[in-house]
Formats: sequence, structure tokens, C-alpha cells
Amino acid sequence: MRRYSSIVAKSNNNVIGVNGRLPFTAKADMANFKSLTTDNYVIMGTKTLTSIGRPLPNRMNLVLTTRTADSHLPMPEKDNLKYFRSKEEVDRYVEGLSPFKLFVIGGEQIYKLFSGDIFREYLTVVDCDICVWPFDETVINYVQPEGKFKLISTLRFPLHVDDTGQSRQEIWEHVYV
Ligand SMILES: NC(=O)c1ccc[n+]([C@@H]2O[C@H](COP(=O)([O-])OP(=O)(O)OC[C@H]3O[C@@H](n4cnc5c(N)ncnc54)[C@H](OP(=O)(O)O)[C@@H]3O)[C@@H](O)[C@H]2O)c1
Repeated sequence: MRRYSSIVAKSNNNVIGVNGRLPFTAKADMANFKSLTTDNYVIMGTKTLTSIGRPLPNRMNLVLTTRTADSHLPMPEKDNLKYFRSKEEVDRYVEGLSPFKLFVIGGEQIYKLFSGDIFREYLTVVDCDICVWPFDETVINYVQPEGKFKLISTLRFPLHVDDTGQSRQEIWEHVYV
């Protein structure tokens, strides 16, 4: 049984991160992210936590780190923020919960770590005409989860005036073989 959902937003040229940030702003996608994850669990690495700047409110934030000393953590543990030193520790903590409540939200290292355990992927593709970066920027590319997935629905969001692209969301569900 695969235990997790994942949420990824990529540009149509396959980029999920540029210099520690998202490559675009897409307001409808953010609203969708919020509605999917609110009252549920979000699982991320410390770099993504740091780029967000705070634990996401109204969600249980489970953060992967290799750091053992509390003083080295990016921010202190609290009721809705817990640190884990391995995927196995997270697996034990969430045992028995539905994959519809457990969202792996990045970044690249954490998508890779959970890649073989994804039941459903919510993939947003941002049609991003102006998302082009100079060669010296650190660009992170999207990696599809391991396994065979089939497309179950597609939703096209309207373009918002502040957005850097038009977003199209594809929801992929894992097919058991
Ligand atoms: N487009 C999207 O949907 C999306 C979503 C999220 C993030 N992003 C982007 O992705 C980028 C960040 O991705 P990233 O890969 O650099 O960082 P990341 O996955 O967010 O975090 C990496 C950190 O996670 C911890 N970690 C990794 N593997 C671990 C393991 N096996 N056990 C315990 N801890 C582990 C380590 O923390 P310590 O260093 O503390 O040990 C590592 O430095 C940013 O640009 C961000 O904006 C994009």
C-alpha cells in the first residue's frame, strides 16, 4: 500500500525551483494547495520550510532534517511543527492515516525520498512563457514519482493579474499492478 500523496508545481519547461524559491507565482494554484492541505499533514525538507519561512498554519508540519542539535534547527519545534530524522520515522508517526491526508510538498530531495511511496500526485503545470533563467541560477528540475500513473482529471485555472504564468493542473493517481 502506497501511503502518501504529493503536490508539485512545475513550469512547462520542468522546473520546480530556482535559487531556493519557486519559479513562478500562480495564485489559483496556491489556493488549491491550501484547500487540499488544510487540516491535513504536510511533509517537507528543511530547505522548503526555510523558504516558506514558518510552519503552514492549520496543518501539521512534518519536517525532515539530519540535524540532531535543537540549536541547529531552522525554527523550534511546536504543536504543529515536528522534526524527523528519516522517512521511516515519518512512516511510523503517520501509520494508519489515509494517503488523502498526507501530502509530500517538497522539495526535490524529499520528493525523491518518498518517490516509491506515492499513491496520488497532484501535479500543477504552469504555462510559463516568461519563466526563463540565466545559466548561473541554480535550477531544480521535476522528477516524476516511481511507478505507473494514470491521469484521472485535469483542471485549468484562470490567469491572475499578478501571476507569472497560466496554470493547468493535472491530477495523477497511481495504478496498482
Ligand atoms: N515547485 C514546487 O512544487 C516546490 C515545492 C517545494 C519546494 N520547491 C523548491 O525546491 C527547492 C528546495 O528543494 P531541495 O531539494 O533543495 O530541499 P528540500 O527537499 O526542501 O530539503 C532538503 C533537506 O531535507 C533534509 N533531508 C533530505 N533528505 C533527508 C533524509 N533522508 N533524512 C533526513 N533529512 C533529510 C535535509 O535537511 P538538513 O540540511 O536540515 O539536514 C536536506 O538539506 C526550493 O527551490 C523550493 O522553492 C518547489
